[in-house]
Amino acid sequence: MVDILYPISLMVNGKTVQAEVSADLRLLDFLRNDLNLTGAKEVCAEGECGACTVVLDGKTVNSCLILAVETDESELTTIEGLSDGKILTQMQKAFVDHHSVQCGYCIPGMVLTGEQIVKDHDSPSRKTIQEDLSGNICRCTGYQKIVEAIEKVGHEFHE
Ligand code: FES
Ligand code: FES
Repeated sequence: MVDILYPISLMVNGKTVQAEVSADLRLLDFLRNDLNLTGAKEVCAEGECGACTVVLDGKTVNSCLILAVETDESELTTIEGLSDGKILTQMQKAFVDHHSVQCGYCIPGMVLTGEQIVKDHDSPSRKTIQEDLSGNICRCTGYQKIVEAIEKVGHEFHE
């Protein structure tokens, strides 16, 4: 059977991307395999772990649950789009300063979700941060240092 391809055009990390994709291609695979943006990771493939988190039109989403064809005319940010690798965002710096990273597998999703939390809440409490982080699973850190990093940025963000 011939695979039908659909044209899509979207902004990825500030650049226009045009491609032809099959109807069943997941956004996660499009990013990792076609665009070589490997920050988003696959763990559960069921929308449970948040390792594949990206920002789609201003909201964090699980890219394992979205089809690439659905992102036509949208704006997407991955962890690679947060900084140029030399100047870290406040959130990335807080993760480093608080020693919030162990194996690192969950961290792209944690950082992007952390950025979303401080945008959504003025000085978020630990409870709010824990609730909003509930879709992101980390099997190494015990979460405490991740929550502390987000809390610190949350206090500074709206000053
Ligand atoms: S791989 Fe997408 S939520 Fe786990
Ligand atoms: S740092 Fe290893 S899974 Fe979170």
